[in-house]
Amino acid sequence: MNTAIFILLAIASLLLVKAETGDSEIFNLINLGQVEGKNYFYEQGVAGRNWTTAGKYCQESGMQLATIETQAQADFLKSKYSSDGFNYYYWTAARDAHLPREFTWNTTGTVPSEISGLTWSTYNDMEYQTCVMYYANSSPGLKLYPCDSTTSGVLCQT
Ligand SMILES: *[C@@H]1O[C@H](CO)[C@@H](O)[C@H](O)[C@H]1NC(C)=O
Ligand SMILES: *[C@@H]1O[C@H](CO)[C@@H](O)[C@H](O)[C@H]1NC(C)=O
Repeated sequence: MNTAIFILLAIASLLLVKAETGDSEIFNLINLGQVEGKNYFYEQGVAGRNWTTAGKYCQESGMQLATIETQAQADFLKSKYSSDGFNYYYWTAARDAHLPREFTWNTTGTVPSEISGLTWSTYNDMEYQTCVMYYANSSPGLKLYPCDSTTSGVLCQT
């Protein structure tokens, strides 16, 4: 077998074992534990990642950005709130249609073109590229935020 591939496989299985044994820190990620067959990890501290780089960060750690799809998952995350740990805003996998070309003119079904002198903007400074943060709190929530914001942490899942 090709040595490079063998080494990659060895590293990959090592990382997998690490994730499966619930090691408390992978790439500065803290394991919150398991619910419905998946583990949630949150990033310790805020490293200035926007939504895109947050997704890459999870992927590099062998995970993906978190989804919260059931009552049990929401209850689990709520139960993990801690005033000196999991207590901030964290990127999740949710986003709106954040590319301008995902708009269509309803009447023609065509995509609006970029026209010089016509700048896209939004009401109340809310960019149309919005992504969703989980707010870890005793009263948790989901917050829409511009995807290029770098002020939150990251919530990943296995
Ligand atoms: C959007 O397009 C559909 C299909 O042609 C039409 O039925 C509907 O009335 C349109 N909506 C508006 C708000 O113009
Ligand atoms: C996210 O950050 C990366 C790296 O700084 C940058 O290249 C990219 O354009 C940013 N994306 C958004 C949507 O802000």
